[in-house]
Amino acid sequence: MTVKRIALLGSTGSIGRSTLAVVAAYPQLFRVVAMAVSSYSDRLLTQIRQFGPEAVAVRDAAGASHLMNQLGDRPIRVLTGDEGVAALAAWPAADLVVSAITGFAGLWPTLQAVRAGKAIALANKECLVAGGQLFMDEVRHHGVSLIPVDSEHNAIFQVLDRQQAVQQLILTASGGPFLGWNKDQLSRVTVEQALRHPTWSMGAKITIDSASLMNKGLEVIEAHWLFGVAAEKIAVVVHPESVVHSMVEYQDGSILAQLGVPDMRTPIAVALAWPERVTQPLCRLDLIQMSRLTFMAPDRATFPCLDLAYQALQTGGVAATVLNAANEVAVSAFLAGKITLATIADIISATLESVPNAASDSFEAVFQADRLARDAAQCCVNHWSK
Ligand SMILES: NC(=O)c1ccc[n+]([C@@H]2O[C@H](COP(=O)([O-])OP(=O)(O)OC[C@H]3O[C@@H](n4cnc5c(N)ncnc54)[C@H](OP(=O)(O)O)[C@@H]3O)[C@@H](O)[C@H]2O)c1
Repeated sequence: MTVKRIALLGSTGSIGRSTLAVVAAYPQLFRVVAMAVSSYSDRLLTQIRQFGPEAVAVRDAAGASHLMNQLGDRPIRVLTGDEGVAALAAWPAADLVVSAITGFAGLWPTLQAVRAGKAIALANKECLVAGGQLFMDEVRHHGVSLIPVDSEHNAIFQVLDRQQAVQQLILTASGGPFLGWNKDQLSRVTVEQALRHPTWSMGAKITIDSASLMNKGLEVIEAHWLFGVAAEKIAVVVHPESVVHSMVEYQDGSILAQLGVPDMRTPIAVALAWPERVTQPLCRLDLIQMSRLTFMAPDRATFPCLDLAYQALQTGGVAATVLNAANEVAVSAFLAGKITLATIADIISATLESVPNAASDSFEAVFQADRLARDAAQCCVNHWSK
């Protein structure tokens, strides 16, 4: 395998750092040529010193200028603003772009990478939740490969070989830190409790989504667009050990699963190396030590975000864009201590009712729906603030 040159969007985040760990483990296979982040941090400077990219984009202008001062004479291009992040996503020297910016903000730069013909390792699920058909049309039009990094979709990607014979996709969910809790208990959880995920170590936004089960809802929508499977044929089972990452059930009754430790370095290594495989594992699952795997139905009444996502997918148009935007606003408000965890679903539900649905026939329509939904959700936050 020749050295793959990587542009890493979101290098300082949880997926970004796991990606750099994979690159560091296989220097003969991968090289990081470009990195993008939101703001300056010492962590970014350390990453630049270790991986020596040609270009870095820091969205925040003051952060970019601080970085330039820190870099002195180092021959590194520093870009800034949303345009800088988008230009970095299409960086000419990169073969593969790892899309690991969090939230809707990841859509525009990832789209630029697709339009520049780069292979995409996709962690940012919001590209598909908010951009859906339009994003997939661009992927097909530009003939780029799209390899899912999200562990569930990476698992399905590895075991799905005959689409026509699929009975259902089965996404596994850890259940998050509040598995088995009731609505009353949920209304009193603290931000600190919600950020303590039992099996996965992830960024704050996705950790809260995992606690509300919205993460699984977003993943149902993501799976629909990635694999072309209808909502009715995508099931969710709770699997607290987080070892079976997802499954495909075929019409003949066979169920194929992909297993591994709950560590994002494995799906990232799969995505970076695809269609090859790396020859040394970064983490190995000990089945004997695991000994027991459990599966149960999700509690849809206590965690209504899951059904809200199914409903948005079935409604179509920009409903999933609205759902995603309302969720981002509500999660920020929860992290800021303004609303309870249980209020997140109320805000999403109210936003879906108040923003008129429209055809999702252009990126302008998607960006407009995102803006309207953010405004509406912010009004709900103000109304429901503690
Ligand atoms: N974490 C996981 O295990 C996991 C698993 C599956 C899927 N995902 C998905 O992967 C994505 C990233 O998740 P994460 O947990 O890694 O998030 P995270 O830890 O919050 O990291 C986000 C990264 O994106 C950068 N960023 C944010 N907004 C940006 C912008 N507008 N322009 C440029 N850079 C920006 C941040 O830079 P700063 O550091 O400067 O803020 C940071 O490097 C999400 O879509 C998530 O759903 C994550």
